Amino acid sequence: MTDTTPGGLENLLSEDRRFPPSSEFAAQANVHRDAYAWADADRPAFWAEQARDLLDWTTPFHEVLDWSGAPVARWFADGRLNAAYNAVDRHVEAGRGDRVALHFEGEGGDTRTITYADLQREVSKAANALAALGVETGDRVAIYLPLIPEAVFTMLACARIGAPHSVVFGGFSAEALYSRIVDAEAKLVVTADGGFRRGAASALKPAVDEALAKGESPVEHVLVVRRTGQDVAWTEGRDVWWSDTVDTASDEHTPVAVDAEHPLFILYTSGTTGKPKGIFHTTGGYLTQAAYTHKAVFDLKAETDVYWCTADIGWITGHTYVVYGPLVNGATQVIYEGTPDTPHRGRWWEIIEKYKVSILYTAPTAIRTCMKWGEEIPSKFDLSSLRVLGSVGEPINPEAWVWYRRVIGGDRTPIVDTWWQTETGAIMISPLPGVTTTKPGSAQVPLPGIAATVVDDDAHPVPDGSGGYLVVTEPWPSMLRGIWGDQERYADTYWSRFKDLYFAGDGAKKDDDGDIWLLGRVDDVMNVSGHRLSTTEIESALVSHPWVAEAAVVGATDETTGQAVVAFVILRGDAGGGEQSADEVQTTLRNHVAKEIGPIAKPRQILVVAELPKTRSGKIMRRLLRDVAEHRQVGDATTLADASVMDLIAQGLSAPG
Ligand code: PRX
Repeated sequence: MTDTTPGGLENLLSEDRRFPPSSEFAAQANVHRDAYAWADADRPAFWAEQARDLLDWTTPFHEVLDWSGAPVARWFADGRLNAAYNAVDRHVEAGRGDRVALHFEGEGGDTRTITYADLQREVSKAANALAALGVETGDRVAIYLPLIPEAVFTMLACARIGAPHSVVFGGFSAEALYSRIVDAEAKLVVTADGGFRRGAASALKPAVDEALAKGESPVEHVLVVRRTGQDVAWTEGRDVWWSDTVDTASDEHTPVAVDAEHPLFILYTSGTTGKPKGIFHTTGGYLTQAAYTHKAVFDLKAETDVYWCTADIGWITGHTYVVYGPLVNGATQVIYEGTPDTPHRGRWWEIIEKYKVSILYTAPTAIRTCMKWGEEIPSKFDLSSLRVLGSVGEPINPEAWVWYRRVIGGDRTPIVDTWWQTETGAIMISPLPGVTTTKPGSAQVPLPGIAATVVDDDAHPVPDGSGGYLVVTEPWPSMLRGIWGDQERYADTYWSRFKDLYFAGDGAKKDDDGDIWLLGRVDDVMNVSGHRLSTTEIESALVSHPWVAEAAVVGATDETTGQAVVAFVILRGDAGGGEQSADEVQTTLRNHVAKEIGPIAKPRQILVVAELPKTRSGKIMRRLLRDVAEHRQVGDATTLADASVMDLIAQGLSAPG
């Protein structure tokens, strides 16, 4: 198994610092220790109670879990509800319309305060506009927007109509957008002229134009928000401005009640093959676990807390912990459009001071970056409003965890290290802040209602103190219902490695107390700054360039980003690749990957080699390449078809030029 955690496994398990919750925190916490036993006694009944307690149903459910069609679960299937009604209208109906739902902070300092009553009007207008553009219940809508309020309005407007949304991260290329539009057969794309990033306006609409020029597409209209005021090309009859269609629409709209198992959204994520997977989630179970975990893990007090999750809506964290979880719970939250260092490196801490943020949820890579910038920066701001800190997306190394608690949390706040995935829909393994004595670097325990463990190659649970593969052993409400258009791939990917167990793709270890430590992916998926990337997808992008004959990509340990993409390429002498300087090759191929997938997938380093290490059956031995990329002694190469290849690579790398 690969140990990809910075610091290494042994290092992790010798971590013996412990942080029990304070008695004051424990006394006021939303969830207590008894929740585990209650859920264990009857898991479906536990979730049914959460579903009734946390959501409003237009038709109450009587069925709880139907697992007869495993591995596709049906939760609360005879119930009906609407997600947007639960996230917005019911708060207004209950007299909480004046509560702030969103404090929007633009990168340039422009702000908007949106109450739940405002949100109801904005979402209703957007829903009416979508309907006028021909979007009906069941149709798919692609969303390619910066993190601005309209992104939230659009997602909820789709949910209001029962039209599954497919949000595509604004950092993905036209090519990536096109393949997602086609795969989901989206009828409408909602985008903006651009967004603000690092102090400048960066364009989005041109990528949509380029995507739609690539070939046949199901798209009838492109709805465009004016954010930056940049000039945009316009296709008459297809393109419409938000200001002409949404702003002028009626602000009254009746939410469409859908079956609990009606698809709420599709979100594409990288797998072990080149083709991204359209993970799809349905309504009732997803919302139940989104709301429960948001309340339990962050100890949310909707009347008093100010919550901030720094994720973009293009990722699952933005879906569950910016849009659905917090809004269903009636929370007040901050959303911020830009980067943490614009216009200065204290921007996040300034925002926390300004809005008196009490719950912060972010990624280890951001914490490590702030550590690098120095603690004198956050120390200049008043962070005393913070009372819970969360981490997500990749293993957090103990030093970053301890720094986060000490410098950001004033040595006071519980930290919740939350493990989950696009596929799981919501948090699965995490401490509970009022219950768990936390250990820096460990996600520790499955939440109440979740059954997960670590197994060996033969699917047997490992004893405490041993490592293996993380699996989920019982169905959970927010589990994916499949891969859009490819249910066979769903069963193959997640349910074939171990019989009747959900295989997450992560390596993990149980410590002597039985607590779980996540160790990184065991498949060909990399995690760069908490973003999931597939080695195969980047390899296909590289070989699509005429200079490249063959490519192998590995994730090498990186101090700040967790992992970094390192590519090894064999050039085609006959196609011009052989004549280029190493710099030229690096720059050209890095830009090519950015164009094919997006800037987040750009290799940190591209090494030109004469051969790649392969087994006799032709499989590339990435383990050996990872050794090279991490400047280690190359491991056992005896299974190589040609053992001299590694010497050749090493020689080539040490040669000048
Ligand atoms: O490897 C695990 C890592 O992120 C993967 C899921 O990526 P994605 O679907 O993009 O979702 C990220 C946000 C939920 C997992 O398979 N991962 C996520 N959270 C943690 C983590 N690894 C260790 N510790 C975590 N807390």
